[in-house]
Amino acid sequence: MTDQNKLQKLKTVLKKYGQSHILAFWDRLDPARRGWLLAQINQLDFAQLDRWREEFVLKASPFKLPGKFVPAPFYAQQPGDAGQREKYDQARQLGDKLISQGKVAAFVVAGGQGTRLGFDGPKGNFPISPVKNKTLFQIFAEGISAAREKYHTSCPWYIMTSPLNYQQTLDIFSANNYYGLDKKDVFIFQQGTLPNFSLDGKILLADIDTIATSPDGHGGSLRALYNSGAMADMQKRGIEFVSYWQVDNSLINIFDPLFIGLHAFDGAEMSSKGLSKTGPFEKLGNFCLADGKVTVIEYSDLPDELAEKRNPDGSLAFELGSIAIHIISVSFIERLNKHGFVLPLHRAVKKISHIDDKGQRIESKEPNGIKLESFVFDALPLAGKSIILQTVRSEEFAPAKNATGVDSAQTARQMMVDRSAVWLESAGVKVPRKADGSPDCVIEISPGFALTREDVAKKRDKIPAIKPGDKVYLG
Ligand code: UTP
Repeated sequence: MTDQNKLQKLKTVLKKYGQSHILAFWDRLDPARRGWLLAQINQLDFAQLDRWREEFVLKASPFKLPGKFVPAPFYAQQPGDAGQREKYDQARQLGDKLISQGKVAAFVVAGGQGTRLGFDGPKGNFPISPVKNKTLFQIFAEGISAAREKYHTSCPWYIMTSPLNYQQTLDIFSANNYYGLDKKDVFIFQQGTLPNFSLDGKILLADIDTIATSPDGHGGSLRALYNSGAMADMQKRGIEFVSYWQVDNSLINIFDPLFIGLHAFDGAEMSSKGLSKTGPFEKLGNFCLADGKVTVIEYSDLPDELAEKRNPDGSLAFELGSIAIHIISVSFIERLNKHGFVLPLHRAVKKISHIDDKGQRIESKEPNGIKLESFVFDALPLAGKSIILQTVRSEEFAPAKNATGVDSAQTARQMMVDRSAVWLESAGVKVPRKADGSPDCVIEISPGFALTREDVAKKRDKIPAIKPGDKVYLG
């Protein structure tokens, strides 16, 4: 087919789907820019995009609650009886063994735009630690380094970025000498993107030769692990499980033997940590069981009467909320990608910078377009088996989402201090506290000093006495 014929064919396809404007500036483009535009167009499946346009762009399809669902069963944070205690012990041993054998990798999703935090650059570069102001990336790197020493093994780290922050992330790692990690054990890759739409369903142009796109959500990680070669790299190294977390959680316990062990013990494909919600309407997804499958129903989709339903002991019936901490089997990632899978899309109405049909730039003050994303927890029902382990908020979950207020850098920093204080006290160290019970000092425990409260106890003799108002760094 000649180039002219190919172009004609493409015009017919675009016309059929109401997207002819994508080629509106064709005559103004030089051959290189035409090639660039065609390369982007060739990535798109217009029939699929048209279905999404109908379903998610032109209307906000109401979420369909599963016909029947109940709260999902979970492993309580502490074992309930002797039998379960034995299982937890065995699981912990299995987890320790799997980590020591180098079968577990770290995997952080860091492709988000961090709009709410309002920080310039990748969120992982946000300085957060209470005394030394270490960045999130540095804290994770030190945790991984400490786990390597503890388990005498390599713990490779996979980092998903987006096309928007990939190069910046590479530069940050390079400028920081990979935070002391071996560069070959850090695999930084990019997630996919999806086109942005106008409110009336037209694909937006970012420039006369560029389609406006945005990262395809953390759900895109399951495809990106495969497409980027990260999964093949894992298989080459003999990695069987990835420990997944979000870049804004400074309290993450990346290598948790109990969680990894329970997942492996039960033959699960994708598992989750959850925590008891602070109240019926806390903004966390709810762990449910629908058709025998673990499913997360978002807080906004759970009917009020179910959110408020209580057990006879007064606890919430839908007690457990999702905190985006998962163990994912590498074989699950492979199975999904080899056999094809789709995750539902979620629409977000956003301010999107684009050009209009005259090529003029539009910077709207009001939301003017639709971005589509998939969420990783929507893969849970695709897993043959999925377990949930309850955890404690103050130990593992301090999301820095907002600039101020709830779930902000400030609350995360305070939670880091609070956890350190509790760890020290459990090792018998006296921590000065204010009248309201909060620590009257600032404490930072580096991952190199202790990864767990048990590690703190082992270093009791290295901890100085703490006076009110002190700033203490244990490194
Ligand atoms: P959030 O939903 O908190 O989004 O992402 P965000 O982009 O970081 O922040 P806002 O909403 O713009 O303020 C949760 C986690 O998922 C990652 C983020 O980096 C964060 O770790 N994520 C999100 C991706 O990796 N890719 C995406 O496309 C979206």
